[in-house]
Parts: sequence; C-alpha cells; structure tokens
Amino acid sequence: MGKKRKRIIIAIDGPAGAGKSSVASEVARELGYSHLDTGSMYRGATYFLLKNNIPMGNENDVLTELKKMKMDMADNKILINNEDITSFLRTKEVERHVSWVSSLPGVRKILVQKQREIAREGGFVLDGRDIGTQVCPDAELKIFLSASPEIRVKRRYLQLKGNVELDFIRKDLKRRDEYDKNRKAGPLKPAEDAIFLDTSHLTRKQVVEKIVRWAWEVIEN
Ligand code: CDP
Repeated sequence: MGKKRKRIIIAIDGPAGAGKSSVASEVARELGYSHLDTGSMYRGATYFLLKNNIPMGNENDVLTELKKMKMDMADNKILINNEDITSFLRTKEVERHVSWVSSLPGVRKILVQKQREIAREGGFVLDGRDIGTQVCPDAELKIFLSASPEIRVKRRYLQLKGNVELDFIRKDLKRRDEYDKNRKAGPLKPAEDAIFLDTSHLTRKQVVEKIVRWAWEVIEN
C-alpha cells in the first residue's frame, strides 16, 4: 500500500475581479478538495449589518451586532442565522460597504479565526486578500492572481450578466482595490513566497491547469 497522499492548503489572493473564486473552485474540484471563498464571508457579514440597519461608521456597534451572527458555509452557500443569504452577496449596497467592514480589525479577527478552523485539516483552496499572509501563512502553495484593471472590469461585467453598469463596476473595483491595499489589518498584498500569476491573457482553463500542475508538484514532493 502506498502512503496516504498529503492534502495541502492552497492560498489564492489578489485584487477584485482577478477571477480568484471561479479559479479556486475549479482547482478544488480537480483535486477533490473543498473551496472556501473568504470574500463571501466578509460580504455576508456586511449584508447582515445592513439588514439590521446598523450604521456603518462605528466599530463597536458593528462588533456588538456581529456577536449575534451565526455564519455557516455549505456547498458554496452562506447561511446566516440559518437563512440562506447567498443571493444578496453581490448587491450594490453590499459592494459599497464591504471594504469598510472588512477593514475593521475586530471583524477580521472573528472571520480569520473561523477560516483557520474550517481549513484546519488541509485539502482546502482558500481565496481572498490575506490568505497567504495572515490566514494560512504556512500554506504549501500560494498564488497571487492578477489581471489588468480593464480586463478585471470586463470579467466582472460578464459575471454579473450585464445587470450592473460598466462604469459602476470600474469605479467600484478601483475604490475597493485602493481601500484593500492601504488598510492596516490584513491588507491586500502578495506573500513573499507567493507565485505571481498575471491572468490578463490566459483563459480560466489555462489558469486552473497551471495551478493544478503546481499543486501536484507540491503534493508529490
Ligand atoms: O470577487 P471580488 O474580488 O470582487 O470580491 P470578494 O473576494 O468577494 O471580496 C469582497 C471584499 O471583501 C474585498 O473587496 C475585501 O474588502 C474583502 N475581503 C477581505 O478583506 N479579505 C478577504 N480575505 C476576502 C475579501
């Protein structure tokens, strides 16, 4: 009997619209791993605060409210206090406030801890902004995905099936990228040992194939 294959952690970070979530989900499927989209956790928390009319601006109010939130992830769905809120994650309201909510150290502490617990056993692909630097600094494979700003805008437009105007998307991605890069807690930045992958001129399939190949090199060594 051969020895049991190790199940690694793959961290995929990068700016908005670089294709992290769809790539991460396909890589996970190819390897028989699970996928954790950490952005949807920050979006879910933001939705919960908006729904309960918590004013955005006061960290203490936000943290008090979040203590009442039970978040569960199942089959790429997010349940908050047992209600499936997945379809609300990409609304403009959430889009507008998510970067502020996720810049709060108290919010990051709660969600990062949850992410670490979920991925504890290995066999996970996580995507986000700070996976390689904060959530899983020991991940065996770290990728920093990027693409030119115009390409990222176009991809997001197609993903939203034309329901949101190009101009809103362009401004929103730029604003969130700036905010995410410049915040103190868990900023968007490549880990020192991350592989940098510019996907501007690659298809999703090509990106997935590259990452899966790198993953096998790590798994088999
Ligand atoms: O899909 P897109 O890249 O547009 O966004 P996302 O991955 O769903 O993340 C939404 C927002 O959550 C980002 O703009 C970040 O402000 C925040 N986020 C974060 O702070 N840390 C993470 N690990 C993931 C997302």
